[in-house]
Amino acid sequence: MLLLLLVYMTEVFMIPVMKEKSMTSQTLREARTYEEAAAKMIRNEERPAFHLSAFTGWMNDPNGFSYYNGMYHMFYQYHPYDAIWGPMHWGHAVSRDMLHWEFLPAAIAPDEFYDMNGCFSGSAVTLPDGRQLLMYTGVQKQRMPGGAADIQTQCLAVGDGLNYEKYEQNPVLDAKDIPEGCSINDFRDPKIWQEKDGTFRCVVGNRPADGSGQILLYRSEDAFNWKFEKVLIANHNRFGKMWECPDFFELDGKYVLLTSPQDMLPEGFEYHNGNGTLCLIGDCDTQNYDFKPEHDQAIDYGIDFYAPQTVLMPDGRRVMIGWMQNWDTCSMRMPSQPWFGQMSLPREISIENGRLYQRPLREMEELRTERAAFSGVRVGENAIELEGVHGRCVDLELKIRAVNAEDLYHKFIMRFAQDERFHTQLSFRPHESVLKIDRKFSGSRRAIIHQRRCKVNSSSGELNLRIILDRFSAEIFINDGEQVMTATLYTPQNADRISFVCDGEAEIDVVKYSLQM
Ligand code: FRU
Repeated sequence: MLLLLLVYMTEVFMIPVMKEKSMTSQTLREARTYEEAAAKMIRNEERPAFHLSAFTGWMNDPNGFSYYNGMYHMFYQYHPYDAIWGPMHWGHAVSRDMLHWEFLPAAIAPDEFYDMNGCFSGSAVTLPDGRQLLMYTGVQKQRMPGGAADIQTQCLAVGDGLNYEKYEQNPVLDAKDIPEGCSINDFRDPKIWQEKDGTFRCVVGNRPADGSGQILLYRSEDAFNWKFEKVLIANHNRFGKMWECPDFFELDGKYVLLTSPQDMLPEGFEYHNGNGTLCLIGDCDTQNYDFKPEHDQAIDYGIDFYAPQTVLMPDGRRVMIGWMQNWDTCSMRMPSQPWFGQMSLPREISIENGRLYQRPLREMEELRTERAAFSGVRVGENAIELEGVHGRCVDLELKIRAVNAEDLYHKFIMRFAQDERFHTQLSFRPHESVLKIDRKFSGSRRAIIHQRRCKVNSSSGELNLRIILDRFSAEIFINDGEQVMTATLYTPQNADRISFVCDGEAEIDVVKYSLQM
């Protein structure tokens, strides 16, 4: 009787049913067994202290960044078996504060015909019945004349925060759901959200006939049955080519599209990363999703930042985390590293003066210990170090100003992760208002790009920086979050000195904290 009722309800009300099979496939079970054993071989000191890194093996994009049953969930593109990209699984970690992460077993594995070549990026949402829904891209390679090509479709998995089952009617979006002439080979990275009226939307990256990128918008009543709504925005080859990993949300009265375009061309000081990041800010009438961008900018001006995703905190703050890496510089790594790939710090984002601002999650300040503060320190041609100002897990506020506005200094330099052999360098040229990060002496044994310059807002030689160092990274927040420069570094940990030197004369205030987990 009960069974009959269930069948009836399912048919009449179209309640989505999950596949009747064991929750975990052989492929997922193997990955879970492997990762647990392999992760035990990695000592805590070999990982970043407060940035999330791969449990073992390879990590790329953040996926399914969400708040579910009182915990922040971070899934990620994951190849457990090697520290290089391979068949994509979803790794999984949870945290109460986005700073202390606990690894959970891999969430999904490429184990169905429609995702046998990878479970690519996607997102998560809480269903009205309390379950968590993952929406991801299933990749299946198909032979084509002249080689093989991906067939990319959007798929679902439903779970309880630990175990997930793939939806029986996967894929839920495929070739029939994309506009004519658009590519099924580049159709990926769904970002899902629920509207106030209870309906669901998702945006998906796609390549139209002009070979460029575009963002498709879909609508669903129940998060299982989806309908194409419109092209939310088309690139027309303006910002790179294919647009990957979109996120779309309201922030401070504006609408924001974050996406990571491939193959970008630099424009002035923007978009130098090849595989770059793009933030479009504008207005949107959500009756018909008419998005009108008014401003564009790179999200990060350093070397390593890609494919960010945001989450809304229960108190209304929107927090963004990106993959702290760049596809073009993945050969910047330690030779025998058992893990590869880190997430950025959680960054609180806001719109101020029409721009995207990013500040480290304010709870970061609870990790601060060992304060050392100095004000009005003169810096000239002889490099100086300050007592207590050193370390590799550091939160440092630096204010730079000219001693004499008429005789402006030429170049101010801060070095960190420094010993006789190594250092990473920030240099600021006030006459050009250009801040540069240079990591060529930061452990790399490869001839790849190691520096990036950023045009900053500065007058009369004044600049405010907040520099957050973890064992393998530096994130530089410029002018209270107006811009950020991010870079990974693989300098040996005992290179921990910090020094300042100036061509000309500058004055600095320094407040330094050690960061402890
Ligand atoms: C972005 C990306 C996504 C894709 C995933 C594959 O870094 O290329 O578009 O889903 O990585 O790992």
